[in-house]
Amino acid sequence: MLKSVPEELVSLELSLPIWSRFFSVAPLIVVGTKEADGNYDLAPKHMAMPLGWSNYFGFVCTPAHRTYQNIRREHGFTVSFPRPEQVILTSLGAAPRCEEDSKPTLAVLPTFSASVIDSVFLKDAYLFLECQLDRIVDGFGENSLIAGQIVAAYIQQQALRVSDQDDGDLLLQAPLLAYLPPGRYAKIERSFSFPFHRGFQQ
Ligand SMILES: Cc1cc2nc3c(=O)[nH]c(=O)nc-3n(C[C@H](O)[C@H](O)[C@H](O)COP(=O)(O)O)c2cc1C
Repeated sequence: MLKSVPEELVSLELSLPIWSRFFSVAPLIVVGTKEADGNYDLAPKHMAMPLGWSNYFGFVCTPAHRTYQNIRREHGFTVSFPRPEQVILTSLGAAPRCEEDSKPTLAVLPTFSASVIDSVFLKDAYLFLECQLDRIVDGFGENSLIAGQIVAAYIQQQALRVSDQDDGDLLLQAPLLAYLPPGRYAKIERSFSFPFHRGFQQ
């Protein structure tokens, strides 16, 4: 028998995915991969995060997307973290493909080559990761977790934490782009020190 929960709570119907019923906070990244024809693909993803405290990074992708197929074949991908001013460029990476399966909007996305992985980054983003495929875990419904080991990483100077600068000032100077699924975004520039408990350790 179900235990009772506070009566003011609304029970979410599970016959459909729950994720469009409320807002949450997610990063917004652009994943770069190499296509079978030698061109490069860029696609935005928000279900993305570091996988632990070591240098691993993962994101969730459907096998129907070219990003997934490219990574399975090429065993590597790049991750660009766009700035808030780049939200439209980021969205262009998710434009529908044409009949011949190309994504013409990619032509307007400024890019530069990654150093280790055979792929590209979104130019003028603030953080850049090159990942070698570690593993793909299929079967989360129709979706899969793609896990990569970071083999190179670069950051814009103004986004780099340095010991003599206040972290709050850093974020004012280099604000972050957040995606608020299902369909809003935010520019994060005002932030507060987290109230860690005395003696807290990672
Ligand atoms: C804001 C935004 C966030 C997205 N997040 C994800 C995601 O986390 N996982 C995913 O599989 N697709 C996500 N998508 C959809 C794909 O990235 C998109 O459909 C893309 O065109 C797929 O391109 P591809 O076939 O070249 O891989 C997102 C799209 C947008 C606009």
